[in-house]
Amino acid sequence: MDIRPVQDVDAPILADLLNEIIARGGTTALEEPFTPKALADEMLTGPDVTCCFVAQGDDGGLGGFQSLLRSRALPDGVGDIATFSRLGWAQKGIGSRLFAATRQAATRKGLAAINATIRADNLGGLAFYTRLGFTDQGISRAVPLRDGTPIDRVSKRYILPGPGP
Ligand SMILES: CC(C)(COP(=O)(O)OP(=O)(O)OC[C@H]1O[C@@H](n2cnc3c(N)ncnc32)[C@H](O)[C@@H]1OP(=O)(O)O)[C@@H](O)C(=O)NCCC(=O)NCCS
Repeated sequence: MDIRPVQDVDAPILADLLNEIIARGGTTALEEPFTPKALADEMLTGPDVTCCFVAQGDDGGLGGFQSLLRSRALPDGVGDIATFSRLGWAQKGIGSRLFAATRQAATRKGLAAINATIRADNLGGLAFYTRLGFTDQGISRAVPLRDGTPIDRVSKRYILPGPGP
């Protein structure tokens, strides 16, 4: 797997990858499928994207992506992260390798910390960010899904090392 910055041409494949995860349900808080253009604007190359990396296999296929976004709900200097590994390719190290690139880019851009907001019932997502070194920051209680089902949202924080001396 090669980790590289996203390009606009990746949008259709990444929209398919994300829409499969959304359709399966039970993990991401996202519930509506994305067109390639909407995904590019919101998570790949749009104005609120700090960085986005993709994992590309030897055969050219894309195994996942990770976006770091500016969010008005977070303090300045705190980026908001989202990670997606292709269904069936989980726990093969894709998310961790993407995070090595994201962490480096975020540090270079002078960010102080990274936020991850995860559904409380997404045990894989919680375990993933904990394993990367994120620690619990807070809980938003009973945020409803589209069908009204209340699900808590857990915020986790990763403190970046700073620019150094
Ligand atoms: C959560 C997700 C991004 C993890 O990506 P990944 O490519 O599987 O991550 P890695 O293989 O690098 O896993 C790193 C560590 O995280 C932990 N982990 C990852 N997925 C896990 C799971 N489903 N259950 C338990 N632990 C898990 C493990 O400790 C793993 O280390 P190990 O392989 O040494 O056991 C991926 O499963 C995914 O896309 N899920 C659907 C979307 C989602 O929930 N995204 C997170 C919210 S934005």
